[in-house]
Amino acid sequence: MKDYAIINKKWWNDVTPIHARSKLYDLKNFKKGKTSLQPIEIKELGNVKGKNMLHLLCHFGMDTLSWAREGAVVTGADLSDDSIKLANDLSKELNIPGTFVCSDVYDLPKKLHKKFDIVFASYGVLCWLSDIQKFAKVVNHFLKDGGVFYLVEVHPFTGILSFDFNLYYKYFQKGPFVDDSSGTYTDWNAKVKGKTYEWFYTMSDAIDAFIDVGLKIEFVHEFPFTMYDQFPGFMEKKAKGQWVLKNKKIQIPLLFSLKATK
Ligand SMILES: C[S@@+](CC[C@H](N)C(=O)[O-])C[C@H]1O[C@@H](n2cnc3c(N)ncnc32)[C@H](O)[C@@H]1O
Repeated sequence: MKDYAIINKKWWNDVTPIHARSKLYDLKNFKKGKTSLQPIEIKELGNVKGKNMLHLLCHFGMDTLSWAREGAVVTGADLSDDSIKLANDLSKELNIPGTFVCSDVYDLPKKLHKKFDIVFASYGVLCWLSDIQKFAKVVNHFLKDGGVFYLVEVHPFTGILSFDFNLYYKYFQKGPFVDDSSGTYTDWNAKVKGKTYEWFYTMSDAIDAFIDVGLKIEFVHEFPFTMYDQFPGFMEKKAKGQWVLKNKKIQIPLLFSLKATK
């Protein structure tokens, strides 16, 4: 394992209990049966009943187990052992079947020997990938012929903006970008400090990586709303739980989704 993965793993282990207690993840209502999935992926991925699904970078498995509630036969994989432990605990406690594997995504083909109808990844995945082309190879490796890869993600365009909504960063920067700020996206005041290594990809990087491994892109969609308060003070929450910019004169892409088949 490379140093950056060890460092990122420590940070993800440290934030797992903070995320599990957070309003954003809303574990309490999830335990009562509320899905953690957003309407976008439920609509765009369609019927998953009886399908074998691999959820990459699954964190502590709420989305993975939500797909199981929709009828999928699920496997989740993540770098953080504390996240995977919590995912296994939730699976047992809620009596929702799921298999969880702790692994760096790039090592997963050595640990998991199965092919899937669907490979799924969502919301906060690309920035943790040191090599998107290698990630696309892993996706391709796990798909059955005819299988579907579905990604819904924070739009790369938003990476050029600071938290206080100023043009601040370069769209074409690559990384690794070292972040040693404190707090986490569920609570910027949380007492967690540590380094993380992150990477940036443009929209074309995200699309081309999957074309290059031979997948057929079915669609790429962009959305003017997102699933969290990405720019505090500049956003408002709509009735359906989607966050949009308060200033209606501005509209920028906040999320995108991509579906590809093998
Ligand atoms: C933002 S979360 C994933 C998004 C998920 N939708 C969620 O919010 O629960 C990012 C996850 O990626 C995992 N991760 C980071 N780097 C990874 C790597 N190299 N291999 C596998 N998992 C990784 C982290 O442990 C973390 O659980």
